[in-house]
Amino acid sequence: MKGVVLAGGKGTRLYPLTYATNKHLLPVYNMPMVFYSINTLVKAGIKEILIVTGGPHAGHFIRVLKNGNELGIDNLSYAYQENEDGICGALKLAEDFSGGKSLCVILGDNCTDADIGREVAKFRAGAKIFLKEVPDPKRFGVPRFDKKGHIVEIVEKPKKPASKYAVTGLYFYDNTVFDKIRKLKPSKRGELEVTDLNNLYIKEGRLDWAELSGFWRDAGTFDTLFEVNKYWAEKGGLS
Ligand code: TTP
Repeated sequence: MKGVVLAGGKGTRLYPLTYATNKHLLPVYNMPMVFYSINTLVKAGIKEILIVTGGPHAGHFIRVLKNGNELGIDNLSYAYQENEDGICGALKLAEDFSGGKSLCVILGDNCTDADIGREVAKFRAGAKIFLKEVPDPKRFGVPRFDKKGHIVEIVEKPKKPASKYAVTGLYFYDNTVFDKIRKLKPSKRGELEVTDLNNLYIKEGRLDWAELSGFWRDAGTFDTLFEVNKYWAEKGGLS
């Protein structure tokens, strides 16, 4: 399995912090934010990684990540997202990089200490998403389950959440993902939505899920950026 870190987007909720650099290079205790998502992949044995970034500060990534060797990456590639067309707009740039292999995709602002190594080793085909129980599911994609515990639908930012789970920014996809992205239509906010992609896998009966163990937050707002900093500082940081 190869790894893709999605680190484009505008980071508007963190203005003015993101005027000067990309959100994913802001500090989380002792490391830049994106080191945490990269570490999740490297720890799981994924050493071939593509970083997709965009916007005016994309060049900063090279200065920080260099060729990735210091982070334990064997082979680091970069892609530039020209259009701000959402998570699947960023992911579609990984088609050549994937070389037909399955992908472990992580959003660059997701900071977790979960160990996904066993899940990576087990994955064969279809898609797998990772859920986390949260106090405020309305902010996220929220799954609805049938009686057997299969996900029947994911609803983006629902007014009345069907469960207490959030879909985290960690996904496994087989190589049918790019044909599915080609079928997506932009949402009202003009983005190719990852929830629509996951719902296509659900329609085919090929989406599996697991609960993410340990700490997980996306660091995309002032409050969550603070929480993530506090958690990792108390843990002694990322080494
Ligand atoms: P978001 O937090 O939804 O969007 P954003 O990063 O642009 O921030 P804001 O809402 O404050 O403007 O995106 C979650 C992650 O997805 C983010 O860490 C990077 C990735 N992403 C891309 O790579 N490309 C994109 O076009 C978008 C929207 C997000």
